[in-house]
Amino acid sequence: MKLRFIFAVVASAMLAAAGVASAQQPIIIKFSHVVAVDTPKGKAAEYFKKLAEERTKGRVKIEVYPNSQLFKDGEEMEALQLGSVQMLAPSLAKFGPLGVREFEVFDLPYIFDDFAELHKVTQGPVGAGLFKKLESKGIVGVAYWDNGFKVMSANKAIRVPADYKGLKMRIQSSKVLGDQMKALGSIPQVMAFSEVYQALQTGVVDGTENPPSNFYTQKMQEVQKFLALTNHGYLGYAVIVNKKFWDGLPPDIRTTLEGAMKDATKFANDIAQKENDDSIEAVRKTGKTEILTLTPEQKAAMKKALVAVHKDNESRVGKETIEAVYKATDFKP
Ligand code: LMR
Repeated sequence: MKLRFIFAVVASAMLAAAGVASAQQPIIIKFSHVVAVDTPKGKAAEYFKKLAEERTKGRVKIEVYPNSQLFKDGEEMEALQLGSVQMLAPSLAKFGPLGVREFEVFDLPYIFDDFAELHKVTQGPVGAGLFKKLESKGIVGVAYWDNGFKVMSANKAIRVPADYKGLKMRIQSSKVLGDQMKALGSIPQVMAFSEVYQALQTGVVDGTENPPSNFYTQKMQEVQKFLALTNHGYLGYAVIVNKKFWDGLPPDIRTTLEGAMKDATKFANDIAQKENDDSIEAVRKTGKTEILTLTPEQKAAMKKALVAVHKDNESRVGKETIEAVYKATDFKP
């Protein structure tokens, strides 16, 4: 009798505990980004969600909002600082308006020859130093995710700098990118990513730059006749979180999320090159956009015109940051 009573008490206590656990609300992380799901960033965000939710056994729920559904460029940083979203992955070219101009070092034309050189920066002390600069803005940088090297597009064949003269070219909010377009004789126009397709369609701008994966998934081949494989610069991301939120997480949850982010980063960086290569082929297959491969002479002419942008932006980006990247990548100006 006594034993049965003890058993009943223990059982009801266990049931009550289970009730409390199931009634406990999961921690919600809103992760907003501006590109399509079917891109390196879109896929990596989904992969992070999967790992994070599995490994925290439902204690964390990641809500991914792709395609500028929640916030577009220019709004999302503020939303993160205010805590309306907890996680973003903006392009490295979008930190200038926040006042952290050093990130524009990634926009300097031809500063990275390939991913191996880039990773010496993003996975080394320079990348960590840049993340430190975000903390006073209430932001923590948790990872660098690759997209890829950029191509140029327009409705006329663009092979050498003279071809760009007078073209209105859409850029991200980076002064370095503005100078890059000016060095080609074109007119830069800062615009949110979500508005680019329509701006190209209506002729508000004549052309743009982006890695092929963004070009293809935004269907820019419908509104651009030529795409030049210039590989003149890099576009990648910083995954960032609201510092107050991140620091306030239970330590075991934060550690689990860091582990999930580490694996999602490897996934992102493993798929980036192939996603972009496949996108070039997919654009080619549509038959709507002609892919231009530059000759060594044309490449050299582009490089000559654009490398001058480095020196012109020394005071904006910071000589120290530029030199640290040169050193890490063996770049010779
Ligand atoms: C752009 O605005 O062109 C890119 O930053 C979009 C992105 O996030 O890849």
